[in-house]
Amino acid sequence: MDEYLMKLKTKVDVMFANEKSGHDIAHLERVMRLALHIQKEEGGDRLIIGISAYLHDIHRLLENREHKFFSPKMSLPIVKDLLKSVDFPDREISKVLHCIEFHEEYDFTPQGKTVSDLETLILQDADNLDAMGAIGIARAFMYAGHHGAVMWNPEVPLNPEALFEDAKSLDDASTIHHFYHNILKLCDNMNTSTAKSIAKDRQEFTQEYIERFFTEWDFI
Ligand SMILES: [Fe+2]
Ligand SMILES: [Fe+2]
Repeated sequence: MDEYLMKLKTKVDVMFANEKSGHDIAHLERVMRLALHIQKEEGGDRLIIGISAYLHDIHRLLENREHKFFSPKMSLPIVKDLLKSVDFPDREISKVLHCIEFHEEYDFTPQGKTVSDLETLILQDADNLDAMGAIGIARAFMYAGHHGAVMWNPEVPLNPEALFEDAKSLDDASTIHHFYHNILKLCDNMNTSTAKSIAKDRQEFTQEYIERFFTEWDFI
């Protein structure tokens, strides 16, 4: 795997050099480390999991460039070209593309959980863990800043039960809304027991952080 990663790194570093929405090269590297840690405990194809994690968010570059939604599926031709350019084995390419295509389809998304293969489930867990805890909090505010959202808007009621589309528009209200409609739900959506135990600790920290945020906001 290291041989492919080294070759990919020179290309991926350039591609993600200007990424400022929290889906930068450091996110790819953290997700890869998390995914490989989970793989060690849970099994699955280590090469497919590592490479998929490293290339999973190219769709975010397309979003940044075009200022509109791009699904992971829309990034697959670019991923395929990258893999071919580093002589990644042909028979393995479709497995990586599969993981990337479905990495954002889990329980509370509109599609629900659409896959059951361990490799994709581990990529989902690793990606979602990086949206939790200290790093997740930092990334949420970074993303909001990039898209011009405020930290918190007390005028818009919180509705943690909102379904996906409503939740999405509430997310636009503030970053704290996004915590309730997305980030705090991730813990219950982990696929593997290894990720569940990491998520539990990150969830507690995130909850403490939000309590503290409100205490400071309302300071009299
Ligand atoms: Fe993604
Ligand atoms: Fe990601």
